[in-house]
Amino acid sequence: MASTVIKNWDNKTWLSSKDYIKSFNKFLIKQIKLDRRSIILDIGCGRGKIIGTLSSQLMLKNKPFGIDLTRHKDKDKRIKFERVDALTFLLKNKKQFNLILIKQTIHLLNFNEIKKVLNLAKKSLSKNGKILIFNLDPDNNNIPTFRLMKTKLSKSLKRDKKIIKLITKIYPYKKSKFIFKVKILRKKYLEMIQKRYISTLLPMTKSQIQKGVDEIKYRYKSNIKFKDKLICLIL
Ligand SMILES: C[S@@+](CC[C@H](N)C(=O)[O-])C[C@H]1O[C@@H](n2cnc3c(N)ncnc32)[C@H](O)[C@@H]1O
Repeated sequence: MASTVIKNWDNKTWLSSKDYIKSFNKFLIKQIKLDRRSIILDIGCGRGKIIGTLSSQLMLKNKPFGIDLTRHKDKDKRIKFERVDALTFLLKNKKQFNLILIKQTIHLLNFNEIKKVLNLAKKSLSKNGKILIFNLDPDNNNIPTFRLMKTKLSKSLKRDKKIIKLITKIYPYKKSKFIFKVKILRKKYLEMIQKRYISTLLPMTKSQIQKGVDEIKYRYKSNIKFKDKLICLIL
């Protein structure tokens, strides 16, 4: 199983802000019917703030399940967390979920794993249960980047397109978009870059990151505004 370890993805960034989570969960609830009896699984949950907040909002009877390869010290207490990879979890799972959320995680698996994970996830759904897969919009993205990051990101988005093609070829789906307007201080965004918040930054050398930081300082104003756009596949 792929073992991309991302530690700083939702560590005090817009992705963990109350506004983002509120607006994301509002979007989720519009896509799928959930109530307090819903059983929810988040694959690649990170700190689990999204489903933790959802649990409070829906007053869930059962804590939602969150699985991830990384166990964060400050993970959300409202979730039932297991440190395990997606395939291992699904292979032994006997529960029936109303929602399986896979947010900005599927691209970290290889194609074979994706097929296996989705096949098992489908089998782990309750009667009207749905899998919701979120990924960066591969066609229409304006995440602030520096040159090398842009090249790497385009490459990874090309692969994402292939993933979407693979999934939509196998499963009937509905497609939707989640757009969040981000306002962030350049200083804060540079910290995120330095902490390699996104997987495209992980393999870069220190000097490549430093060059990138200098480029962003030069190219962006001290307040950065952009739209974080995700596509959502509902299977
Ligand atoms: C980009 S983060 C997204 C976190 C969260 N879903 C969010 O959107 O805020 C991707 C997460 O997937 C986890 N991950 C990667 N491969 C995984 C696997 N095979 N099984 C479970 N989690 C995995 C990583 O550890 C990381 O926390």
